[in-house]
Amino acid sequence: MKSETLKSEKYADLPSNSTELYNREQILTEIQRIALQINEDYRESEDLLMIGVLKGAFMFLADLIRYIQIPVRIEFLSASSYKGTCSTGNVKFNLESLGTIKNQDVLIVEDIVDSGLTIRKLFASLKKQEPKSLKVSSLVVKKEKDGSIKEGVDYYAFAHSGGFLIGYGFDVDEKYRNLDSIFELLP
Ligand code: IMP
Ligand code: MG
Repeated sequence: MKSETLKSEKYADLPSNSTELYNREQILTEIQRIALQINEDYRESEDLLMIGVLKGAFMFLADLIRYIQIPVRIEFLSASSYKGTCSTGNVKFNLESLGTIKNQDVLIVEDIVDSGLTIRKLFASLKKQEPKSLKVSSLVVKKEKDGSIKEGVDYYAFAHSGGFLIGYGFDVDEKYRNLDSIFELLP
């Protein structure tokens, strides 16, 4: 099957109110920029642990790690708070699946920081386990109403001030994670 055919079928069921915001090339360019910074910032680190927050960050972590040139390990955690396009405000993590992170350099890899609730809760839970350092990376950070960026995200690819995003790991009710571009759902 030709790749063009594959592509059009993959995009066939996109909602009519969606518009492409960042294509694969733009995403990879920004991910490389972040990776360069991480390689630089952790060059003294003997053992960086990157923790991907499932499910949304699986593609971001997979692409990011390809550009990391220092010793690195990965773990995954699952977090959930959204139903449809609304946060339920009730965030849960499965921390039991994670081994010890004490005295380790830990970098959380999140898909989107929106209200910041999920990342604040996860940061606080991991901090209790006394890692050597703890930082946050997110593919997208949603801007505040005044256009400012939330504190506490050390590395991000895109600052977004619009609506709900799908594709490249981001879902609405578990759909559209497979798209290789990021699309915005217009109101
Ligand atoms: P927060 O707790 O409000 O910061 O929401 C963070 C989580 O909600 C992220 O980890 C995403 O999984 C999900 N989320 C927030 N905004 C979007 C979006 O536009 N599209 C898909 N998922 C989103
Ligand atoms: Mg998430």
